[in-house]
Amino acid sequence: MNSYQKEIQDLKKQFALTSQEAQGYFRIIQQRVAKEIAEVKKLNLLKGRFILECSTGQGKFTQGLLERLLNPNQTLYSIDSTPGLIKNIRLKIRKRNFKPEIADLWNLPFPDNSFDALISHYTLHSLRSKNKNFLKPFREMVRVLKPGALFIAMTFYYDKGKNLPAFYYHRLFQLSYQDKKINFLSLQKPGIYIDYLRMAGLKDIKTKIISYDSIKFPEELKQKIWNERLREEERSIKKIKSLKLRREVQEILKYFEDNPELKSQGIGPTVLLWGEKE
Ligand SMILES: C[S@@+](CC[C@H](N)C(=O)[O-])C[C@H]1O[C@@H](n2cnc3c(N)ncnc32)[C@H](O)[C@@H]1O
Repeated sequence: MNSYQKEIQDLKKQFALTSQEAQGYFRIIQQRVAKEIAEVKKLNLLKGRFILECSTGQGKFTQGLLERLLNPNQTLYSIDSTPGLIKNIRLKIRKRNFKPEIADLWNLPFPDNSFDALISHYTLHSLRSKNKNFLKPFREMVRVLKPGALFIAMTFYYDKGKNLPAFYYHRLFQLSYQDKKINFLSLQKPGIYIDYLRMAGLKDIKTKIISYDSIKFPEELKQKIWNERLREEERSIKKIKSLKLRREVQEILKYFEDNPELKSQGIGPTVLLWGEKE
Protein backbone atom coordinates (compact mmCIF):
# COMPACT_ATOMS: atom_id res chain seq x y z
CA MET A 1 0.00 0.00 0.00
CA ASN A 2 1.50 3.34 -1.01
CA SER A 3 1.22 6.44 1.19
CA TYR A 4 -1.81 7.80 -0.72
CA GLN A 5 -3.73 4.52 -0.44
CA LYS A 6 -2.89 4.50 3.27
CA GLU A 7 -4.22 8.06 3.61
CA ILE A 8 -7.51 7.11 1.91
CA GLN A 9 -7.77 4.10 4.18
CA ASP A 10 -7.22 6.33 7.23
CA LEU A 11 -9.90 8.82 6.10
CA LYS A 12 -12.33 5.97 5.51
CA LYS A 13 -11.81 4.75 9.06
CA GLN A 14 -11.67 8.15 10.76
CA PHE A 15 -14.91 9.49 9.26
CA ALA A 16 -16.79 6.21 8.67
CA LEU A 17 -16.83 6.85 4.89
CA THR A 18 -17.36 4.54 1.94
CA SER A 19 -14.32 3.97 -0.31
CA GLN A 20 -15.75 6.35 -2.87
CA GLU A 21 -16.39 9.07 -0.28
CA ALA A 22 -12.92 8.65 1.20
CA GLN A 23 -11.40 9.01 -2.28
CA GLY A 24 -13.53 12.11 -2.89
CA TYR A 25 -12.46 13.66 0.41
CA PHE A 26 -8.83 12.81 -0.28
CA ARG A 27 -9.09 14.63 -3.63
CA ILE A 28 -10.54 17.70 -1.90
CA ILE A 29 -7.69 17.73 0.63
CA GLN A 30 -5.19 17.38 -2.21
CA GLN A 31 -6.79 20.30 -4.06
CA ARG A 32 -6.63 22.46 -0.93
CA VAL A 33 -2.98 21.65 -0.37
CA ALA A 34 -2.23 22.27 -4.06
CA LYS A 35 -3.95 25.66 -3.82
CA GLU A 36 -2.00 26.61 -0.71
CA ILE A 37 1.27 25.49 -2.22
CA ALA A 38 0.50 27.43 -5.39
CA GLU A 39 0.10 30.60 -3.28
CA VAL A 40 3.49 30.08 -1.63
CA LYS A 41 5.02 29.38 -5.04
CA LYS A 42 3.42 32.41 -6.68
CA LEU A 43 4.83 34.69 -3.99
CA ASN A 44 8.20 32.92 -4.28
CA LEU A 45 8.43 32.60 -0.50
CA LEU A 46 10.18 29.30 0.12
CA LYS A 47 13.82 29.86 -0.80
CA GLY A 48 17.12 28.56 0.52
CA ARG A 49 18.71 25.25 1.36
CA PHE A 50 17.48 24.46 4.88
CA ILE A 51 13.74 24.64 5.52
CA LEU A 52 11.96 23.95 8.82
CA GLU A 53 8.33 22.86 8.94
CA CYS A 54 6.43 23.39 12.23
CA SER A 55 4.51 21.08 12.76
CA THR A 56 4.01 18.11 10.46
CA GLY A 57 0.90 16.47 11.98
CA GLN A 58 -0.37 13.70 9.71
CA GLY A 59 1.93 15.06 6.99
CA LYS A 60 -0.63 16.07 4.37
CA PHE A 61 1.07 19.40 3.75
CA THR A 62 4.56 17.96 4.23
CA GLN A 63 3.97 15.59 1.33
CA GLY A 64 2.78 18.47 -0.85
CA LEU A 65 5.85 20.51 0.03
CA LEU A 66 8.24 17.73 -0.92
CA GLU A 67 6.41 16.81 -4.11
CA ARG A 68 5.32 20.17 -5.46
CA LEU A 69 7.56 22.87 -4.08
CA LEU A 70 10.97 21.82 -2.87
CA ASN A 71 13.79 20.53 -5.03
CA PRO A 72 16.09 17.66 -3.97
CA ASN A 73 18.83 20.15 -3.01
CA GLN A 74 16.61 21.66 -0.35
CA THR A 75 16.44 19.80 2.97
CA LEU A 76 13.16 19.76 4.87
CA TYR A 77 13.26 19.38 8.66
CA SER A 78 9.75 18.71 10.04
CA ILE A 79 9.02 18.67 13.73
CA ASP A 80 6.04 17.73 15.87
CA SER A 81 5.70 17.28 19.62
CA THR A 82 3.53 14.15 19.24
CA PRO A 83 5.87 11.12 18.98
CA GLY A 84 3.23 8.97 17.22
CA LEU A 85 2.94 11.49 14.39
CA ILE A 86 6.68 11.55 13.82
CA LYS A 87 6.79 7.75 13.87
CA ASN A 88 3.99 7.71 11.30
CA ILE A 89 5.56 10.29 8.99
CA ARG A 90 8.88 8.38 9.06
CA LEU A 91 7.01 5.37 7.68
CA LYS A 92 5.04 7.44 5.15
CA ILE A 93 7.82 9.58 3.67
CA ARG A 94 11.25 8.16 3.00
CA LYS A 95 13.38 10.73 1.22
CA ARG A 96 17.04 11.64 1.66
CA ASN A 97 16.22 15.36 2.00
CA PHE A 98 13.48 14.83 4.61
CA LYS A 99 14.38 14.91 8.31
CA PRO A 100 11.47 14.49 10.75
CA GLU A 101 12.14 15.04 14.46
CA ILE A 102 10.19 15.05 17.73
CA ALA A 103 10.43 18.57 19.14
CA ASP A 104 8.45 21.02 21.22
CA LEU A 105 7.93 24.51 19.84
CA TRP A 106 8.60 25.91 23.29
CA ASN A 107 12.15 24.57 23.07
CA LEU A 108 13.40 23.83 19.55
CA PRO A 109 16.51 21.62 19.40
CA PHE A 110 18.31 23.76 16.78
CA PRO A 111 20.99 26.44 17.17
CA ASP A 112 20.19 30.11 16.49
CA ASN A 113 20.22 31.19 12.80
CA SER A 114 19.96 27.63 11.38
CA PHE A 115 17.27 27.88 8.70
CA ASP A 116 16.74 29.76 5.42
CA ALA A 117 12.95 29.62 5.79
CA LEU A 118 10.27 28.27 8.13
CA ILE A 119 6.79 27.18 7.15
CA SER A 120 3.88 26.21 9.35
CA HIS A 121 0.54 24.90 8.19
CA TYR A 122 -2.44 25.06 10.57
CA THR A 123 -0.18 25.02 13.59
CA LEU A 124 -0.42 28.55 15.06
CA HIS A 125 -4.03 28.16 16.18
CA SER A 126 -3.26 24.63 17.41
CA LEU A 127 -0.26 25.56 19.59
CA ARG A 128 -0.70 23.68 22.82
CA SER A 129 1.30 23.39 26.01
CA LYS A 130 1.13 23.33 29.78
CA ASN A 131 3.13 26.54 29.48
CA LYS A 132 0.91 29.61 29.08
CA ASN A 133 3.59 31.84 27.57
CA PHE A 134 2.46 31.82 23.93
CA LEU A 135 5.09 34.32 22.85
CA LYS A 136 7.78 31.70 23.55
CA PRO A 137 7.05 29.40 20.55
CA PHE A 138 7.01 32.43 18.22
CA ARG A 139 10.37 33.52 19.68
CA GLU A 140 11.73 30.00 19.21
CA MET A 141 10.63 29.80 15.57
CA VAL A 142 12.18 33.18 14.80
CA ARG A 143 15.35 32.38 16.80
CA VAL A 144 16.24 29.41 14.58
CA LEU A 145 15.84 31.47 11.37
CA LYS A 146 18.82 33.19 9.76
CA PRO A 147 18.63 37.00 9.65
CA GLY A 148 16.64 38.01 6.56
CA ALA A 149 15.01 34.54 6.30
CA LEU A 150 11.25 34.24 5.82
CA PHE A 151 8.71 32.92 8.30
CA ILE A 152 5.59 31.67 6.48
CA ALA A 153 2.42 30.46 8.17
CA MET A 154 -1.04 29.39 7.18
CA THR A 155 -3.61 29.24 9.92
CA PHE A 156 -7.33 29.31 10.57
CA TYR A 157 -8.40 32.54 12.20
CA TYR A 158 -11.42 33.86 14.00
CA ASP A 159 -13.70 36.12 12.02
CA LYS A 160 -16.61 36.95 14.33
CA GLY A 161 -19.97 36.36 12.73
CA LYS A 162 -18.49 34.48 9.80
CA ASN A 163 -16.97 31.43 11.38
CA LEU A 164 -18.46 31.04 14.83
CA PRO A 165 -19.14 27.31 14.16
CA ALA A 166 -15.43 26.86 13.45
CA PHE A 167 -14.56 28.67 16.66
CA TYR A 168 -16.89 26.37 18.61
CA TYR A 169 -15.58 23.26 16.88
CA HIS A 170 -12.01 24.17 17.85
CA ARG A 171 -13.16 24.99 21.38
CA LEU A 172 -14.75 21.52 21.70
CA PHE A 173 -11.49 19.92 20.64
CA GLN A 174 -9.59 22.00 23.19
CA LEU A 175 -11.84 21.41 26.19
CA SER A 176 -10.71 17.85 26.89
CA TYR A 177 -7.08 19.06 26.84
CA GLN A 178 -7.92 22.05 29.02
CA ASP A 179 -9.34 19.60 31.54
CA LYS A 180 -5.79 18.20 31.76
CA LYS A 181 -4.37 21.73 32.19
CA ILE A 182 -3.09 21.95 28.62
CA ASN A 183 -3.58 25.40 27.07
CA PHE A 184 -4.23 26.36 23.43
CA LEU A 185 -3.53 29.59 21.59
CA SER A 186 -6.77 28.87 19.68
CA LEU A 187 -8.36 30.74 16.77
CA GLN A 188 -7.35 34.41 16.90
CA LYS A 189 -7.90 37.44 14.74
CA PRO A 190 -5.03 37.81 12.21
CA GLY A 191 -3.89 40.94 14.12
CA ILE A 192 -3.08 38.86 17.22
CA TYR A 193 -0.83 36.47 15.25
CA ILE A 194 0.85 39.52 13.69
CA ASP A 195 1.48 41.04 17.15
CA TYR A 196 3.15 37.82 18.33
CA LEU A 197 5.28 37.64 15.19
CA ARG A 198 6.36 41.26 15.50
CA MET A 199 7.23 40.83 19.19
CA ALA A 200 9.22 37.72 18.27
CA GLY A 201 11.39 39.73 15.85
CA LEU A 202 9.79 39.66 12.39
CA LYS A 203 9.45 42.70 10.17
CA ASP A 204 7.44 43.54 7.02
CA ILE A 205 4.66 41.12 7.96
CA LYS A 206 2.14 40.62 5.19
CA THR A 207 -1.13 38.67 5.02
CA LYS A 208 -3.33 37.17 2.37
CA ILE A 209 -6.68 35.45 2.84
CA ILE A 210 -6.94 32.12 1.06
CA SER A 211 -10.43 31.16 -0.03
CA TYR A 212 -11.50 27.66 -0.99
CA ASP A 213 -14.62 28.74 -2.87
CA SER A 214 -13.46 27.16 -6.12
CA ILE A 215 -13.15 23.72 -4.52
CA LYS A 216 -16.38 21.76 -4.78
CA PHE A 217 -17.23 19.98 -1.54
CA PRO A 218 -20.43 17.87 -1.85
CA GLU A 219 -22.84 18.95 0.88
CA GLU A 220 -23.68 15.39 1.96
CA LEU A 221 -20.02 14.48 2.40
CA LYS A 222 -19.35 17.71 4.30
CA GLN A 223 -22.22 16.94 6.71
CA LYS A 224 -21.02 13.39 7.22
CA ILE A 225 -17.47 14.48 8.04
CA TRP A 226 -18.63 17.25 10.33
CA ASN A 227 -21.01 14.90 12.22
CA GLU A 228 -18.28 12.33 12.62
CA ARG A 229 -15.88 15.00 13.90
CA LEU A 230 -18.45 16.04 16.49
CA ARG A 231 -19.04 12.42 17.46
CA GLU A 232 -15.29 11.95 17.86
CA GLU A 233 -15.09 15.03 20.08
CA GLU A 234 -18.06 13.85 22.12
CA ARG A 235 -16.15 10.67 22.96
CA SER A 236 -13.22 12.58 24.50
CA ILE A 237 -15.54 15.18 26.01
CA LYS A 238 -17.28 12.46 28.04
CA LYS A 239 -14.08 12.09 30.07
CA ILE A 240 -13.95 15.76 31.12
CA LYS A 241 -13.98 16.10 34.91
CA SER A 242 -14.33 19.86 35.41
CA LEU A 243 -17.98 20.87 35.85
CA LYS A 244 -17.36 24.31 34.32
CA LEU A 245 -15.88 22.78 31.17
CA ARG A 246 -18.69 20.21 30.97
CA ARG A 247 -21.19 23.06 31.04
CA GLU A 248 -19.36 24.76 28.17
CA VAL A 249 -19.45 21.49 26.21
CA GLN A 250 -23.22 21.26 26.68
CA GLU A 251 -23.68 24.85 25.49
CA ILE A 252 -21.65 24.23 22.33
CA LEU A 253 -23.43 20.96 21.54
CA LYS A 254 -26.77 22.70 22.03
CA TYR A 255 -25.66 25.46 19.67
CA PHE A 256 -25.02 22.85 16.97
CA GLU A 257 -28.29 21.06 17.74
CA ASP A 258 -30.22 24.33 17.42
CA ASN A 259 -28.38 25.36 14.26
CA PRO A 260 -27.90 22.15 12.24
CA GLU A 261 -27.37 24.16 9.05
CA LEU A 262 -24.15 25.57 10.55
CA LYS A 263 -22.65 22.16 11.14
CA SER A 264 -21.26 21.84 7.65
CA GLN A 265 -20.00 25.38 7.30
CA GLY A 266 -16.43 24.17 7.37
CA ILE A 267 -13.47 25.25 9.43
CA GLY A 268 -11.88 27.89 7.20
CA PRO A 269 -11.11 30.60 6.19
CA THR A 270 -7.33 30.57 6.20
CA VAL A 271 -4.87 33.41 6.45
CA LEU A 272 -1.39 33.21 4.94
CA LEU A 273 1.10 35.31 6.91
CA TRP A 274 4.73 35.93 6.10
CA GLY A 275 7.51 38.18 7.35
CA GLU A 276 11.27 38.55 7.46
CA LYS A 277 13.56 38.04 10.44
CA GLU A 278 15.15 41.37 11.41
C1 LIG B 1 -3.80 20.98 13.24
S1 LIG B 1 -2.32 20.09 13.27
C2 LIG B 1 -1.62 20.57 11.71
C3 LIG B 1 -0.62 19.61 11.20
C4 LIG B 1 -0.15 19.77 9.75
N1 LIG B 1 0.72 20.89 9.58
C5 LIG B 1 -1.31 19.81 8.79
O1 LIG B 1 -1.60 20.88 8.28
O2 LIG B 1 -1.93 18.77 8.56
C6 LIG B 1 -1.31 20.96 14.45
C7 LIG B 1 -0.07 20.19 14.85
O3 LIG B 1 0.68 21.02 15.78
C8 LIG B 1 1.30 20.15 16.70
N2 LIG B 1 1.66 20.90 17.92
C9 LIG B 1 0.82 21.46 18.82
N3 LIG B 1 1.52 22.00 19.84
C10 LIG B 1 2.82 21.78 19.56
C11 LIG B 1 4.03 22.06 20.26
N4 LIG B 1 4.02 22.66 21.46
N5 LIG B 1 5.21 21.70 19.70
C12 LIG B 1 5.22 21.06 18.50
N6 LIG B 1 4.12 20.75 17.80
C13 LIG B 1 2.92 21.09 18.34
C14 LIG B 1 0.27 19.06 16.94
O4 LIG B 1 0.86 17.86 17.44
C15 LIG B 1 -0.34 18.89 15.55
O5 LIG B 1 0.27 17.85 14.84
